Amino acid sequence: MQRFLCAAIAALALAGCGGGSSVPASNAAITAASGQQVFRYDTFGDEAFWTNTLHMNQVVQTAVDPTTALSVGLKVDADALPPDVLAALQAGQIDLKSPATTVTLLKLNAVVGIQATVDAKNNITSFGVSCALCHSTVDNRIAKGIGSRLDGWPNRDLNPGAIIALSPAVTAAQKAVYSSWGPGRYDPRFNEDGKNGPVLIPPAYGLAGVNLATYTGDGDVGYWNRYVAITQMHGMGNFSDPRLGIVVTAATDLVNPVVPALVSYELSLPKPPAPGGSYDAAAAARGQAVFNGAGRCLSCHSGTTFTDANVTLHQPSDTGMDPGWALRSATKEYRTTPLRALWQHPPYFHDGSAPTLAAVVDHYDTYLNLGLSAQQKGDLVQYLTSL
Ligand code: HEC
Ligand code: HEC
Repeated sequence: MQRFLCAAIAALALAGCGGGSSVPASNAAITAASGQQVFRYDTFGDEAFWTNTLHMNQVVQTAVDPTTALSVGLKVDADALPPDVLAALQAGQIDLKSPATTVTLLKLNAVVGIQATVDAKNNITSFGVSCALCHSTVDNRIAKGIGSRLDGWPNRDLNPGAIIALSPAVTAAQKAVYSSWGPGRYDPRFNEDGKNGPVLIPPAYGLAGVNLATYTGDGDVGYWNRYVAITQMHGMGNFSDPRLGIVVTAATDLVNPVVPALVSYELSLPKPPAPGGSYDAAAAARGQAVFNGAGRCLSCHSGTTFTDANVTLHQPSDTGMDPGWALRSATKEYRTTPLRALWQHPPYFHDGSAPTLAAVVDHYDTYLNLGLSAQQKGDLVQYLTSL
């Protein structure tokens, strides 16, 4: 209930929600602050799907101990844990092999991207998901998978297919598809077009100034937020896209009113800078010259966001990409990916076909017949690592 209140307040008054008492400086700051609440905790009423249809509450109640939860990439928000729980966790005194511990973590609202209601008898009565499930991770400061939230960082450990496949409601055929995806991948069109070809969960940071979101540039960030909240998370709201033949209507709309705050939060998320010492600065400077010159990268990865997305999209054949995903989209083309914190999210390209930045460079060198020397390629990799 509280999060719906947050959402309602965000929509009506653009007031901060979540206990902050300071007077915010500007409307943009207030909107971003309430957008953070939406991003982290709002389910848009998707419990109806995750609880009543998928019965994830029952699955988690009986079968998902914290070790299992961490193994499918779920993250624990250490800042939501009381000091005594945190201390016990650090001392190894908490049973990570018991589903009851998962219930406790859910009760503390400490599982990133999962919103559950737990009754007095410790039964999970409702289960829902938020944007943070796929687009936040943690800094592992307590242990692997347990730490402070890093919003906007794609959770490449998360295995959404494996999680959905746990549901008793999915058919054997669906289960085979979900189980085929693997960590860091999700297919946000499978339930619409029945085709199977997951894409990498992208970063949600570093998008300020980029007018088209997603690998195929189907619309702006707000468009995609509505698409994913309503057609994938199964939040309550109205969404239609005649290009895709999708029309969803709901009696109550818990999505559209909060999208402006949500977008404002996303656009406020900066790309995380490359860690000190993670690249060779002199080589990166030489690599920049290759990027701008012999590599011809700048012809598409232009401007401060390293993309021409505000001007044009590209045919799959422009860069030698598998056309499959583009053909399932509204635009049938690929957006030049804005280059941001590449060091943070290998593998690369929409389908993860390049495991490393060296593989990215080799792909272009071969496909575009660039004839780069080994030195030029190495320097270019250093430059890409620095972005
Ligand atoms: C189940 C995992 C999942 C959830 C939940 C999810 N997303 Fe995504 N998100 C994805 C995937 C996969 C893509 C890539 C889709 C594409 O490019 O076609 C994506 C794309 C995006 C992008 C575009 C990034 C770019 O480079 O342009 C943004 C922004 C985004 N999501 C924000 C959100 C927000 C906000 C929510 C909550 C309303 C959300 N996502 C919920 C998986 C998820
Ligand atoms: C003709 C336009 C074009 C040129 C030239 C081009 N790119 Fe790209 N780049 C794209 C497109 C389109 C994508 C998205 C492809 C996909 O996801 O399948 C992309 C994706 C990428 C990615 C993946 C980013 C991520 O987060 O997954 C990297 C890295 C990259 N390009 C680097 C380069 C480098 C280095 C060069 C020069 C050697 C270059 N690009 C030349 C259009 C271009």
